[in-house]
Amino acid sequence: MDTIIKINEESTLYVGRVAELLDRVVPKRRVVVITDANIERLYPDVVRRYECIVIGQGEESKTLQTVERVYRELMALGADRSTFILGIGGGIVTDVAGFVAATYMRGVEFGFVSTTLLGQVDASVGGKNGVNVVDYKNMVGTFLQPRFVISDVEMLRTLPMRELRAGMAEVVKSAVIADVALFDFIESRADDIFSDMDALQHAMLGAVAVKARIVAEDEHEGGIRRLLNLGHTLGHAIEKSTHEVNHGEAVAIGMGLIARVAFSRGMLCGEDALRIVGVLDKLGFELKSPVNMAQVLGAVKLDKKRENDIIRVVLPVKIGECVVAEMSFEEFNAICML
Ligand SMILES: NC(=O)c1ccc[n+]([C@@H]2O[C@H](COP(=O)([O-])OP(=O)(O)OC[C@H]3O[C@@H](n4cnc5c(N)ncnc54)[C@H](O)[C@@H]3O)[C@@H](O)[C@H]2O)c1
Repeated sequence: MDTIIKINEESTLYVGRVAELLDRVVPKRRVVVITDANIERLYPDVVRRYECIVIGQGEESKTLQTVERVYRELMALGADRSTFILGIGGGIVTDVAGFVAATYMRGVEFGFVSTTLLGQVDASVGGKNGVNVVDYKNMVGTFLQPRFVISDVEMLRTLPMRELRAGMAEVVKSAVIADVALFDFIESRADDIFSDMDALQHAMLGAVAVKARIVAEDEHEGGIRRLLNLGHTLGHAIEKSTHEVNHGEAVAIGMGLIARVAFSRGMLCGEDALRIVGVLDKLGFELKSPVNMAQVLGAVKLDKKRENDIIRVVLPVKIGECVVAEMSFEEFNAICML
């Protein structure tokens, strides 16, 4: 039985089996797929239904050079404004495909099949797309909603465990921000959540609901959407300082650290701080930062989200509730060093 969630006026999420959903929701006109080589190899029956452009993998491929190559391939195929672009892949593919679709011939319609847990709960939902410029992540992009997102948890069976776990960091994040029942669920199912597809789907849907609710209130990140950055201020800085951890792993470390900071400031009770750290630990995250705090804070200073020397830090006040605190870099430095 499919689950259908209206993300907003323009965009619908379909959760179910990909083959059936493609038949139902992809418009009956010319479709060009943008994907990567892993997905092309693992899911030929899904990808090869349509004309296909394959992009490279990793952050190094999320660039304007890749975007230009895709434009050229679209032009060579004779794609026009009525062509529908279908991004099939994780966050790298959907970020590039969304940006290409938003800009090719001033914009064509697009949809996604999201194939990583991180993509399903985060990257494909919310209408942000974009690419990296030099060392800066997501520096160029647009806000534009895909017409649909298809998420099939069965596709997560082929995802390497490390990637699956990375996506779970964003699920825990959503739970800590706004859904205590989801947190209880993950905590109680931490032992088998990666292997029981029903439990995984339940957690995925809970996280999507949190993100969709927040994005519906604040599409362009002027206010409440900032809550979604829980764990990200320190997480991004850790990610920038070392290649040892991926995004989800860095967010997990950032969340653990910020829970301790909130506790030491008297904002979060000890029991909740321990539960946050405990669930991440049970899910298998290594919570010790691979870089020392002084280095992490040096990288925070350079973070692009810093506006007029003010840092917005998301702090948990209890499980299911967070606040955005504004502080100078010096204040942030001081509380992190407590
Ligand atoms: N637009 C947004 O709002 C938003 C939000 C969060 C993250 N992001 C972006 O998402 C990107 C990370 O996305 P990601 O974590 O999905 O990584 P990814 O797209 O790099 O995918 C990870 C790896 O898994 C492979 N893969 C994907 N699906 C698979 C499957 N079903 N089976 C086997 N292998 C599979 C990919 O080929 C890749 O090698 C980052 O660039 C980040 O900035 C965007």
